[in-house]
Amino acid sequence: MRDLSHTSLVTGAAGFLGSHLCDRLLARGDNVIGFDNLLTGSMAKISHLMGHQRFAFIEGDLIEGLPDVDAAEIYNLACAASPLRYQADPVHTFRTSVIGMYNVLERARRTGARVFQASTSEVYGDPEIHPQPETYNGNVNPVGPRACYDEGKRGAETLCFDYKRVHGVDVRVARIFNTYGPRMGGDDGRVVSNLIAQALQGGSLTIYGDGSQTRSFCYVDDLIDGFMGLMELPAAPAGPVNLGSTGEFTIMELAHIVSAMAGAGLAFEMQQLPQDDPQQRKPDISLAHALFGFAPKIELREGLARTIDHFRTAN
Ligand SMILES: NC(=O)c1ccc[n+]([C@@H]2O[C@H](COP(=O)([O-])OP(=O)(O)OC[C@H]3O[C@@H](n4cnc5c(N)ncnc54)[C@H](O)[C@@H]3O)[C@@H](O)[C@H]2O)c1
Repeated sequence: MRDLSHTSLVTGAAGFLGSHLCDRLLARGDNVIGFDNLLTGSMAKISHLMGHQRFAFIEGDLIEGLPDVDAAEIYNLACAASPLRYQADPVHTFRTSVIGMYNVLERARRTGARVFQASTSEVYGDPEIHPQPETYNGNVNPVGPRACYDEGKRGAETLCFDYKRVHGVDVRVARIFNTYGPRMGGDDGRVVSNLIAQALQGGSLTIYGDGSQTRSFCYVDDLIDGFMGLMELPAAPAGPVNLGSTGEFTIMELAHIVSAMAGAGLAFEMQQLPQDDPQQRKPDISLAHALFGFAPKIELREGLARTIDHFRTAN
């Protein structure tokens, strides 16, 4: 039986994933405190939660510290997540990842809270092995324009496992691969939201490089299942756990599917591939499957249909 006074604190609550996580935690019966500086998130993503008797929102920057509230679980999702957004102020991104993580872990060390860290497939950089298992240490350029995010998240993982080793903090680190769904920002520069927004506007679709680079796209509900599974394990796994979908598509394939589904004509604008853009990305999710039966269920076309519906009405 869950403790009905169970409180979860979610940093990055007004963002894409954070808002869906708050929905799921409230549905589980938690008291939820959302925390966000509204840098890339917005109140619109959590407007349906305002007034909920078990939800409270506190505005603030994680670099300055966490709000002074008791929470049995801390979900750390705060961080700009698209290259466009995280490169806009790279120093803030790096500080959010590392100093923000430090603030979360210090709190957990004092209170005994269980910690969830939203890490990323970007810790693998431009991978030389495919698909990527958790044992792969990655191929990251530490001084390139993506490093503020990639190395920030790697540093955050380092802190997590040092706090686990040294202070016994219960940390659960998810390496999240590309995820999409309703409430993504239409202007945040991520490939799925970019293509949908462009297709709905009837314009040409921007393709970086020749479109042959691959990604695996996970629908948000499946990903949040993974968050819950990881946090509900009785004991923390020894290391990070990949979460994502194994269906692999080239960007050009994705563009064709989106334009057909959004009823747009096929016009592409080819642009230069950004520096350090990975050529391939696909998770090995066998660890998550073995630990808590993780198995994404929503097919790409079904997830895109739901996302396109959302974009038609909300953006
Ligand atoms: N969506 C994905 O595909 C994906 C993939 C890998 C990792 N992630 C990670 O998941 C988390 C959530 O990503 P998202 O897609 O929801 O992005 P998002 O930009 O929609 O959400 C991030 C939220 O964090 C907030 N934030 C940023 N810096 C902050 C700070 N210093 N203090 C307080 N709040 C701050 C933003 O305002 C925003 O609401 C991020 O940590 C991201 O790195 C996401």
